[in-house]
Amino acid sequence: MSIKDQLLAKINARHAVVAIVGLGYVGLPLAVAFAERGFPVIGIDIDDRKVASLNRGESYVQDIPSARLAALVPKGDRAAAGLPATAGTFRATTDYAALEQCDAAIICVPTPLNKTRDPDVRFVISAGESVARHIHPGMLVALESTTYPGTTEDLLLPMLTNRAIVDRLQVNSFDVGTDFFLAFSPERIDPGNQHYVVENTPKVVGGVTPACREVAVALYGAAMETIVPISSTQAAEMVKLLENTFRAVNIALVNEVAIMCDKLGIDVWEVIEAAATKPYGFMKFTPGPGVGGHCIPLDPFYLSWKMKTLNYNARFIQLAGEINSDMPRYWVEKAVDALNGAGKPMKGSRVLVLGVAYKKDIDDLRESPALDIIELLRSKGADVRYHDPYVPVMSHNGHDLTCEPALDAALDAADCVVIVTDHTVYDWTQVYAVARVVVDTRHVGVQRS
Ligand SMILES: NC(=O)c1ccc[n+]([C@@H]2O[C@H](COP(=O)([O-])OP(=O)(O)OC[C@H]3O[C@@H](n4cnc5c(N)ncnc54)[C@H](O)[C@@H]3O)[C@@H](O)[C@H]2O)c1
Repeated sequence: MSIKDQLLAKINARHAVVAIVGLGYVGLPLAVAFAERGFPVIGIDIDDRKVASLNRGESYVQDIPSARLAALVPKGDRAAAGLPATAGTFRATTDYAALEQCDAAIICVPTPLNKTRDPDVRFVISAGESVARHIHPGMLVALESTTYPGTTEDLLLPMLTNRAIVDRLQVNSFDVGTDFFLAFSPERIDPGNQHYVVENTPKVVGGVTPACREVAVALYGAAMETIVPISSTQAAEMVKLLENTFRAVNIALVNEVAIMCDKLGIDVWEVIEAAATKPYGFMKFTPGPGVGGHCIPLDPFYLSWKMKTLNYNARFIQLAGEINSDMPRYWVEKAVDALNGAGKPMKGSRVLVLGVAYKKDIDDLRESPALDIIELLRSKGADVRYHDPYVPVMSHNGHDLTCEPALDAALDAADCVVIVTDHTVYDWTQVYAVARVVVDTRHVGVQRS
């Protein structure tokens, strides 16, 4: 039996041991999905606090309740309970040596931007180097982190085929597609989305060779309902960038339309709702305070950086980035005007930012426009407070803030309330009833009964 067929047999029997490298918003739900389908799963993360927490069955990712995780963490005598020792279990470790017993390693580490907004792939490099130290024949390596086209083949592949590996394994050659397998499959997780989760979100998979793709499709297909095979890892990397650039550009477009409507004295929301009645050729996007999260504000810049290396200027990405990142300034100017209308200067006024997470019903602050809004308000001399039921404390640019303990009292004490995140738990009628001046970046005012 070829190495590939042996691996396929293990996958089909759900005996393949799956390592998930990087146990964050993306990695943990993926680990749970494989374990719940009966695979033995080992999670690897450099953060020992996360690892300890997971081994206690305690989740720090909102979409994975601790009870769901705890059911997968080995405890008691599984044999006595009629269960195989490892099937459908999850354990976490900081020790990459665990890869020795793994048949697959799926890398889900962060891909941020550096200070000059260029790709910062040091987490991918470090995870790749660690995997390379333990890779062995018959192993599938898949990258899920969002990145520029070419990362899997240009950055990861050379690490996994270097001379040191051949020497360590004492083999003549260690070739991709025959001895080991390499694929890229973009993560599509949407934190807080109750309907589309890992299992029912179609999964795009591209392999370095057809055999790589076949193995990766088999593994992902064992845990996910729909697999979308694609011709190459580069195309799979580009799929994710298209998806997120599409959102960034359309959000920027509707944000600019909102600014234009404001200048024209037209209600942008009425315009959007009417346009959305068109049964074809229009997709509804809504304006807001800007874009946040680990994806939309960052991922398109991986593509524009790559295009710069090819002497091409990705103009849509540039412009969308400028418009979206300028939205906090627009809304702070609105707050200045609103306070002015009430006869108060921004300097010295108490401003309550309502909701700081980057989108509703989640606790993720990464790249949230609330951070810029708070900074800008502060720079104008405002006494800024915030309330967010999902974010008890926050720290940004050296400032520590604590969530206001009582919402009604905070609304009452504020000269101006800036609504940034439309969490479902907020009662907007109540907010509008108590607040003196409201700046509503989410258009929740109309939802009042
Ligand atoms: N969060 C999302 O909504 C989302 C959606 C789609 C795609 N993505 C992409 O998925 C990737 C991961 O994002 P995330 O939100 O899960 O990040 P995260 O920060 O929540 O988690 C990443 C984890 O990787 C760990 N880590 C870092 N370096 C490591 C290493 N060398 N070895 C092992 N573990 C390491 C970190 O400790 C952390 O626990 C990124 O490329 C991101 O762009 C994220």
